Amino acid sequence: MKKYKLAIVGATGLVGRTVLKVLEEKQLPISKYVLFASKKSAGQKIHFMNTEYIINELNEHSFDEGFDFAIFSAGGETSKKYSPIAASKGCIVVDNSSAFRMDPNVPLVVPEVNPEEIQNHHGIIANPNCSTIQAVVALKPLDEKYQIKRIVYSTYQAVSGAGRNGVIDLENGIKNHIINKSDFSNCNEITNKPNFNAQENYSLKKFPYPIFSNCLPHIDIFLENGYTKEEEKMINETRKILKHPNLRITATTVRVPVFNSHSESINVEFENSFHMRELKEVLRNAPGIILQDDIQNNIYPIATKASGYDYVFVGRIRRDESVISGINLWVVADNIRKGAASNAVQIVEKMCYQHSN
Ligand code: A2P
Repeated sequence: MKKYKLAIVGATGLVGRTVLKVLEEKQLPISKYVLFASKKSAGQKIHFMNTEYIINELNEHSFDEGFDFAIFSAGGETSKKYSPIAASKGCIVVDNSSAFRMDPNVPLVVPEVNPEEIQNHHGIIANPNCSTIQAVVALKPLDEKYQIKRIVYSTYQAVSGAGRNGVIDLENGIKNHIINKSDFSNCNEITNKPNFNAQENYSLKKFPYPIFSNCLPHIDIFLENGYTKEEEKMINETRKILKHPNLRITATTVRVPVFNSHSESINVEFENSFHMRELKEVLRNAPGIILQDDIQNNIYPIATKASGYDYVFVGRIRRDESVISGINLWVVADNIRKGAASNAVQIVEKMCYQHSN
């Protein structure tokens, strides 16, 4: 079997490190890995595949030596600059950023949903936004069976989706809370109210407000129409992946003080009628989904239990009684794994075995 050469760009980041972990688990037919990050990390060592790998600084010549594939998880600007360079040298890029997702010449792929799109690439394949990936894994089998008419997304997104600085903001918020709370309880034990006036004696690295104890209805930048870019991404990417360019979709995306795994409330309206028992079977038998839907026993998806897995967990399935044919779903997945790293590695995996056949 042919063996491939893979570059991992952004190998020191949250997603990049998870890419390395997933690659170790999968043991793909890859004979050489090369790890890249910014100048800041050049020379750093990372333990990977039982070997000490040195991080290389990414530059214009990084792809001169010839790679079959590259996984980019180093942000939009790095992708915009270096993905075309890599592609021009014959390397197929799987890009985790939003830089190319809506480019009509770039396939936007979730292997459980539209693997047939992989072959349409011109050197770059885009990995969808984390919130979109888990949503479309759940929605695709329902769309095939009942034809989706409208979607309302409400997301509850973990701080890991904002990178290392997002995680640091939540950690610092927790530390700050513990310090302030103990000060407070020493001087005012009677009321035992939370200390709303506590000074934030830490600086925020990522979010405009403390993420600890808050839900921020603000992910990515605000657009002219009042939506955020994250909301726009979910809407446009869902349309592209499900191949419904005019599907009616709205979204509210919210950052919550959860370390990892995104949760989503998804309201879906169908063209066709459905039987609940059959609809649950459709989801149970769909690729990549674990059904956790047993309310009698308090079984439904939760973030801490989804973390570490590549499945999309679906539960709280119930009829939307306000429309003729519709449901509500609760969908949870590890945003760093299935929402980014694992999805990208799955795309590379598919290409390895397609090329070998
Ligand atoms: P570095 O660690 O050297 O800054 P996260 O989203 O978790 O913050 O990770 C971002 C990843 O993208 C890191 O691996 C980071 O490397 C990498 N990165 C950021 N800017 C560049 C750049 N200009 N060239 C290469 N890698 C970059």
